[in-house]
Amino acid sequence: MARVVCIGVGTVGCGWATVFARAGHEVVLYDADPAMIASRALPRIDATLEQLAHEMPTGETTETIRARIQVADTLAEAVAGAEVIQESVREDLDIKRALFAEIGASAPADCRLFSSTSALPGSQFLSDIPNPGRAMVGHPVNPPSHIPLVELCATPLTTPETVEYAHAFYDKAGMEPITVEKEIDGFILNRLQYTLVAEAMHLVGEGYCSAADIDRVMTSGLALRWASIGPFMTAHLNAHEGFVGFVAQLEGMMKKMGADARTDYDWGPDLVSRIHDEMARIRPVEDIAAAQAWRDRRILATRRLQAGETPTDA
Ligand SMILES: NC(=O)c1ccc[n+]([C@@H]2O[C@H](COP(=O)([O-])OP(=O)(O)OC[C@H]3O[C@@H](n4cnc5c(N)ncnc54)[C@H](O)[C@@H]3O)[C@@H](O)[C@H]2O)c1
Repeated sequence: MARVVCIGVGTVGCGWATVFARAGHEVVLYDADPAMIASRALPRIDATLEQLAHEMPTGETTETIRARIQVADTLAEAVAGAEVIQESVREDLDIKRALFAEIGASAPADCRLFSSTSALPGSQFLSDIPNPGRAMVGHPVNPPSHIPLVELCATPLTTPETVEYAHAFYDKAGMEPITVEKEIDGFILNRLQYTLVAEAMHLVGEGYCSAADIDRVMTSGLALRWASIGPFMTAHLNAHEGFVGFVAQLEGMMKKMGADARTDYDWGPDLVSRIHDEMARIRPVEDIAAAQAWRDRRILATRRLQAGETPTDA
């Protein structure tokens, strides 16, 4: 098993640490704010492992997995002997550039370098490092401990061996990698997500419905299908003749909705406050941590249903 280093141990880094430790790797944590690792990251990792106690890999316990996670005090100590580095620091191009310059200089030359960036094409910060062929984006969905998708996007300099290694590495860790064939801001998931959110802001902003009802349209409507089949298969199954039949019947409507969607909607602070207040009436801000744990249990329950098992602790 490999020595896998998680650099940046906030929301996403904590999730990655549990994924890699559960996969049997020796995990090293490093963060620019070392005090935070003890006060926030390790308790969070412990809580996640506890929540996953019903989903333990064969022969493992929470304790055996937790024992694989160590903390490094310096970046140099963290990256020494690393086989894989998963970077999850703030989404800031200058910070990622400076960090990868440092990593590139101190990590072993053959160490694979993966970035969790949500939207930045890797070539903007992974090209000017020694041996850039070993680096690419491995973008997870939060929390990666519960949601398996990881979007793999090479830079023009990434070698085919690194791409192949990344697929096998994430796959063996229980993730489901997909390939983003060409660099694009936001990769696939966030382009879809924020296009939908932009139109949702437009619909709420212009008074077509409440923010809570937008959420209900997803949880009681679209997402029930989309948890099992995506939008293309939904369309394919909605017409006797399959996808071509669906498009033949509804092409005009599909194109009109696309053209009418206000993805450039210029929401202002009043709309943001209004939506915040509506959400906070349902989930007060002080309850967010508890609500995140509830959300994660729901995700696990959905995954069990997807796998054909009965949920036990939803
Ligand atoms: N939160 C999400 O939903 C989500 C989902 C997928 C991908 N991502 C991406 O993952 C990355 C991390 O996001 P997050 O939400 O975990 O952020 P976060 O703010 O929760 O955590 C970032 C951590 O990085 C540390 N850090 C900052 N600069 C550093 C440096 N130079 N060296 C070491 N540590 C440093 C911070 O102290 C902090 O603990 C971002 O690129 C983000 O876009 C986030």
